[in-house]
Amino acid sequence: MKSKDLAQLLEFPIHGDKNGKLVALEKGADFPFEIKRVYYIWGTQANAVRGRHAHKKLEQVIICTSGSCDFILDNGNDSQTFHLNTPHQGLYIKNNVWREFTNFSPDCVVMVLASEHYNEEDYIRDYKEFLKNIEQ
Ligand code: TYD
Repeated sequence: MKSKDLAQLLEFPIHGDKNGKLVALEKGADFPFEIKRVYYIWGTQANAVRGRHAHKKLEQVIICTSGSCDFILDNGNDSQTFHLNTPHQGLYIKNNVWREFTNFSPDCVVMVLASEHYNEEDYIRDYKEFLKNIEQ
Protein backbone atom coordinates (compact mmCIF):
# COMPACT_ATOMS: atom_id res chain seq x y z
CA MET A 1 0.00 0.00 0.00
CA LYS A 2 1.39 3.41 -0.97
CA SER A 3 1.49 5.83 1.95
CA LYS A 4 -0.86 8.20 0.18
CA ASP A 5 -3.52 5.54 -0.37
CA LEU A 6 -6.65 6.35 1.58
CA ALA A 7 -7.82 2.73 1.58
CA GLN A 8 -6.50 -0.67 0.69
CA LEU A 9 -7.83 -2.81 -2.13
CA LEU A 10 -7.88 -6.39 -0.81
CA GLU A 11 -7.62 -9.20 -3.35
CA PHE A 12 -9.58 -12.26 -2.21
CA PRO A 13 -8.58 -15.78 -3.25
CA ILE A 14 -11.09 -17.32 -5.66
CA HIS A 15 -12.12 -20.95 -5.34
CA GLY A 16 -13.25 -21.72 -8.83
CA ASP A 17 -13.85 -24.58 -11.20
CA LYS A 18 -16.04 -25.18 -14.23
CA ASN A 19 -19.14 -24.81 -12.04
CA GLY A 20 -18.38 -21.24 -11.04
CA LYS A 21 -16.52 -19.17 -8.49
CA LEU A 22 -16.61 -18.69 -4.74
CA VAL A 23 -14.94 -16.29 -2.31
CA ALA A 24 -14.85 -17.08 1.43
CA LEU A 25 -13.97 -14.40 3.98
CA GLU A 26 -12.76 -15.27 7.45
CA LYS A 27 -11.02 -13.16 10.04
CA GLY A 28 -7.29 -13.76 9.72
CA ALA A 29 -4.92 -13.70 6.79
CA ASP A 30 -7.49 -12.64 4.19
CA PHE A 31 -9.59 -10.33 6.30
CA PRO A 32 -8.56 -7.53 8.66
CA PHE A 33 -11.20 -7.61 11.44
CA GLU A 34 -13.98 -9.58 13.09
CA ILE A 35 -17.21 -8.88 11.22
CA LYS A 36 -20.02 -7.65 13.47
CA ARG A 37 -22.47 -6.48 10.81
CA VAL A 38 -23.22 -6.97 7.13
CA TYR A 39 -25.49 -4.78 5.02
CA TYR A 40 -26.02 -4.34 1.30
CA ILE A 41 -27.25 -1.63 -0.97
CA TRP A 42 -28.89 -2.01 -4.37
CA GLY A 43 -31.48 -0.36 -6.61
CA THR A 44 -29.54 2.92 -6.44
CA GLN A 45 -30.06 5.62 -9.07
CA ALA A 46 -26.97 5.99 -11.30
CA ASN A 47 -26.20 9.56 -10.21
CA ALA A 48 -27.25 9.25 -6.55
CA VAL A 49 -24.54 10.15 -4.05
CA ARG A 50 -24.59 8.01 -0.91
CA GLY A 51 -22.40 8.01 2.14
CA ARG A 52 -21.25 11.56 2.82
CA HIS A 53 -19.92 10.62 6.22
CA ALA A 54 -16.91 9.33 8.13
CA HIS A 55 -16.71 6.99 11.10
CA LYS A 56 -15.00 7.70 14.40
CA LYS A 57 -14.07 4.08 15.11
CA LEU A 58 -15.71 1.70 12.64
CA GLU A 59 -13.81 0.01 9.83
CA GLN A 60 -15.39 -1.45 6.71
CA VAL A 61 -14.62 -3.69 3.79
CA ILE A 62 -16.76 -2.78 0.80
CA ILE A 63 -17.41 -5.34 -1.93
CA CYS A 64 -19.23 -4.66 -5.16
CA THR A 65 -20.73 -8.15 -5.53
CA SER A 66 -22.48 -7.20 -8.79
CA GLY A 67 -22.05 -4.31 -11.24
CA SER A 68 -19.90 -1.31 -10.44
CA CYS A 69 -19.69 2.00 -8.60
CA ASP A 70 -17.15 4.61 -7.51
CA PHE A 71 -15.98 5.31 -3.97
CA ILE A 72 -14.53 8.78 -3.46
CA LEU A 73 -12.44 8.96 -0.29
CA ASP A 74 -11.07 12.01 1.45
CA ASN A 75 -8.82 12.31 4.50
CA GLY A 76 -8.96 16.10 4.69
CA ASN A 77 -5.75 16.51 2.66
CA ASP A 78 -6.11 14.15 -0.27
CA SER A 79 -8.95 12.65 -2.25
CA GLN A 80 -8.85 9.31 -4.05
CA THR A 81 -11.41 7.50 -6.20
CA PHE A 82 -11.71 3.72 -6.31
CA HIS A 83 -13.77 2.06 -9.05
CA LEU A 84 -15.22 -1.19 -7.68
CA ASN A 85 -16.39 -3.69 -10.28
CA THR A 86 -15.58 -7.20 -9.14
CA PRO A 87 -16.69 -9.51 -6.29
CA HIS A 88 -13.15 -10.74 -5.64
CA GLN A 89 -11.87 -7.39 -4.38
CA GLY A 90 -12.76 -5.51 -1.22
CA LEU A 91 -12.03 -1.89 -0.35
CA TYR A 92 -10.76 -1.73 3.22
CA ILE A 93 -11.57 1.69 4.67
CA LYS A 94 -10.37 2.50 8.17
CA ASN A 95 -11.86 5.10 10.48
CA ASN A 96 -11.67 8.88 9.96
CA VAL A 97 -12.04 8.75 6.18
CA TRP A 98 -14.83 10.72 4.52
CA ARG A 99 -16.57 8.64 1.86
CA GLU A 100 -19.05 9.30 -0.90
CA PHE A 101 -20.13 6.70 -3.43
CA THR A 102 -21.79 7.20 -6.75
CA ASN A 103 -21.82 6.25 -10.46
CA PHE A 104 -23.90 3.14 -9.85
CA SER A 105 -24.49 0.66 -12.66
CA PRO A 106 -28.12 -0.57 -12.81
CA ASP A 107 -27.06 -4.01 -11.52
CA CYS A 108 -24.86 -2.65 -8.72
CA VAL A 109 -25.03 -4.45 -5.38
CA VAL A 110 -22.69 -3.08 -2.70
CA MET A 111 -22.07 -5.33 0.28
CA VAL A 112 -20.52 -3.76 3.37
CA LEU A 113 -18.80 -5.77 6.09
CA ALA A 114 -18.41 -3.72 9.24
CA SER A 115 -16.28 -4.04 12.37
CA GLU A 116 -18.99 -2.63 14.66
CA HIS A 117 -22.72 -2.80 15.24
CA TYR A 118 -24.83 0.06 13.90
CA ASN A 119 -24.34 3.11 16.11
CA GLU A 120 -25.35 6.57 14.92
CA GLU A 121 -22.96 8.05 17.53
CA ASP A 122 -20.04 6.70 15.50
CA TYR A 123 -21.00 8.73 12.41
CA ILE A 124 -19.59 12.13 11.49
CA ARG A 125 -22.09 13.47 8.97
CA ASP A 126 -20.92 17.07 8.88
CA TYR A 127 -17.86 17.68 6.67
CA LYS A 128 -16.69 20.69 8.71
CA GLU A 129 -16.89 18.62 11.89
CA PHE A 130 -14.90 15.86 10.11
CA LEU A 131 -12.12 18.34 9.27
CA LYS A 132 -12.13 19.66 12.84
CA ASN A 133 -11.91 16.11 14.26
CA ILE A 134 -8.90 15.06 12.18
CA GLU A 135 -6.98 18.22 13.13
CA GLN A 136 -7.14 17.23 16.82
P1 TYD B 1 -27.05 5.68 5.62
O1 TYD B 1 -25.91 5.40 6.54
O2 TYD B 1 -27.50 7.09 5.50
O3 TYD B 1 -26.75 5.08 4.16
P2 TYD B 1 -25.61 5.49 3.07
O4 TYD B 1 -24.37 5.88 3.82
O5 TYD B 1 -25.43 4.26 2.27
O6 TYD B 1 -26.15 6.61 2.23
O7 TYD B 1 -28.25 4.75 6.08
C1 TYD B 1 -29.51 4.77 5.46
C2 TYD B 1 -30.56 4.36 6.49
O8 TYD B 1 -30.37 3.02 6.93
C3 TYD B 1 -30.53 5.23 7.72
O9 TYD B 1 -31.90 5.47 8.11
C4 TYD B 1 -29.88 4.37 8.77
C5 TYD B 1 -30.25 2.97 8.34
N1 TYD B 1 -29.22 1.96 8.70
C6 TYD B 1 -29.49 1.01 9.67
O10 TYD B 1 -30.57 0.98 10.27
N2 TYD B 1 -28.53 0.06 9.95
C7 TYD B 1 -27.34 0.06 9.31
O11 TYD B 1 -26.49 -0.83 9.58
C8 TYD B 1 -27.07 1.07 8.31
C9 TYD B 1 -25.75 1.13 7.58
C10 TYD B 1 -28.04 1.99 8.05
